[in-house]
Amino acid sequence: MEKNSDRWWRNEVGYIVYPEAFKDGNGDGIGDLKGLISKLDYLKDLGVGMLWICPIFASPMEDNGYDVSDYYAINPRFGSLEDLKLLLSEAHERNIRILLDLVLNHTSKEHPWFQKALADPSSEERSYYIFRKGKMVGDKLLPPTNWGSFFTPSCWEKVEGSDEFYFHAFGSGMPDVDWSNPKVRELYAEIADFYIKLGVDGFRLDAVAHLAKDLSFTDSDLYDEDGDGFVLDPSKFSNRPELFHYLEEFREKALKGRSVLLIGEVGGSVQPYEGKALADRLSGPLDLLFNFDTVWNNGNFGSIGKKDEEIVTDVMQLKHNFTRWYDACHNSCDMPLYWCNHDHPRLLAQYGSRIYRKESAKALALTLLFLYGTPFLYQGEELAMDNLIEGSIEDFAADVGTADSITSYRKAGYSDEQILSFLRRAARMNARTPLSWDSSPYGGFSEVKPLLPYTKDYLAGYNAKVEHDDPYSVLNFYRSAIALRKNTYYNNLVQNSQLEWIDWNHQDVISYLHRGYTTIMVITNMRPYQVYFTFNFQIADVLLHNYDGVLLSNHVLTLRPFESYLLVVK
Ligand code: NOJ
Ligand code: CA
Repeated sequence: MEKNSDRWWRNEVGYIVYPEAFKDGNGDGIGDLKGLISKLDYLKDLGVGMLWICPIFASPMEDNGYDVSDYYAINPRFGSLEDLKLLLSEAHERNIRILLDLVLNHTSKEHPWFQKALADPSSEERSYYIFRKGKMVGDKLLPPTNWGSFFTPSCWEKVEGSDEFYFHAFGSGMPDVDWSNPKVRELYAEIADFYIKLGVDGFRLDAVAHLAKDLSFTDSDLYDEDGDGFVLDPSKFSNRPELFHYLEEFREKALKGRSVLLIGEVGGSVQPYEGKALADRLSGPLDLLFNFDTVWNNGNFGSIGKKDEEIVTDVMQLKHNFTRWYDACHNSCDMPLYWCNHDHPRLLAQYGSRIYRKESAKALALTLLFLYGTPFLYQGEELAMDNLIEGSIEDFAADVGTADSITSYRKAGYSDEQILSFLRRAARMNARTPLSWDSSPYGGFSEVKPLLPYTKDYLAGYNAKVEHDDPYSVLNFYRSAIALRKNTYYNNLVQNSQLEWIDWNHQDVISYLHRGYTTIMVITNMRPYQVYFTFNFQIADVLLHNYDGVLLSNHVLTLRPFESYLLVVK
């Protein structure tokens, strides 16, 4: 298998764009490609060199573009193929590469393939999807298996007027395609080829862990916790052995040896040794793999019933997760790094602090940016944007990934107040609010009221314009941190030296160093209170710091809330 030899992403910092919420370019209240093009200079100034753009293909938007109805057309709300071409040339002119988010695992139920499959059971398209007969139990027709889906109780949806069901790992409007069918594999390779010819630099392959299913379709014997008859059993359709071969073939047929970056989203159940095989520099079909292990290390996932105060970052778990992937992979794989994306609440609300907003946003930036790997920021992190803290249940229910869970929480007896406080802290909509560009109405995102619910961050001074003008802003801190990370000398050190953790057992502090001709060290207090840290080095230089003054005496550093350093030490 041919793999890219230059591995340019090792010298880059990526940025995740959720286009609907990035910038409205035509005054309809919805972010679009023209809006994105108009802000490329902002991204260039920030210093990022590649954009992963969440899906922009034609879609009924049941799952915000992850339900594609035509892979060869751009969703008119985002623009046209001409706009994409313009984005590519304008971005390339600024040395920014473009990665499209390609959904290989499922289509929209409105995709003509699926419509044909439904209308004509003997059509070729029927074989692109997974249809199975239901089970008769007594006089009841039940789904073919007890498998649960990520978004709904069952992963089977009944076909009206028939005893068959179709399979969907996510929403019922997102039927999975059958990758065991060679024709399906060919169709997706052609789609990727089309966009490579147009000039895209890579793809983030959505939900790629699920392409291979257990085709025996036997019931899961996992315990059915909520007693609804369905269990979410990742072993039935996640990271199965055939996946490697499907992706190998995809790489060969779609890329044809061209230097295009393939990033796979492999989900929560993948182990480092499996990830390592998929992203091996020489033999892996992918180049980078997003796992979910360093998100939710604060008990926030599924934390309905908990109080806000109970959500506390588990610093040890976070370090453990970073290091187990690093240890397993760094010799043979490149790795991406990220705190959050459009599927999580905002970083500030996840691991940061509203009280120490600037300090914590800067600390989290610095801590991630100097770890081994290719960092990806999610839009708004660089401005310290917050969750949708004034959102209503309806605002959150607009997301198909959340809607069903609201119904189950109500069924389980949780009050609307409990549900709302959970959603305001954990739901995906929190990160899907319009970016705040300036202090004008709607934060300069659009001239009209945005379609998406929006935060008041822009009025509180957390917007691009105000932060641009403030030398001590989070935005300017990010710019400095990214510039340092992209400095050839420091980047080589980070990518090629051995990562060493310092005071590993400290429950509150993340600290590591990279030894080279000069040694750089990161020390971050992850708590909203003061802590102490034993420091047996000499400070040769303070490269970045989110406070004034160094509180050091007798080899003990006093770290103020979320205080964070990037040091050159001896
Ligand atoms: C992962 C995407 O990041 C998420 O937003 C989407 O809902 C699922 N895949 C399904 O495509
Ligand atoms: Ca628009």
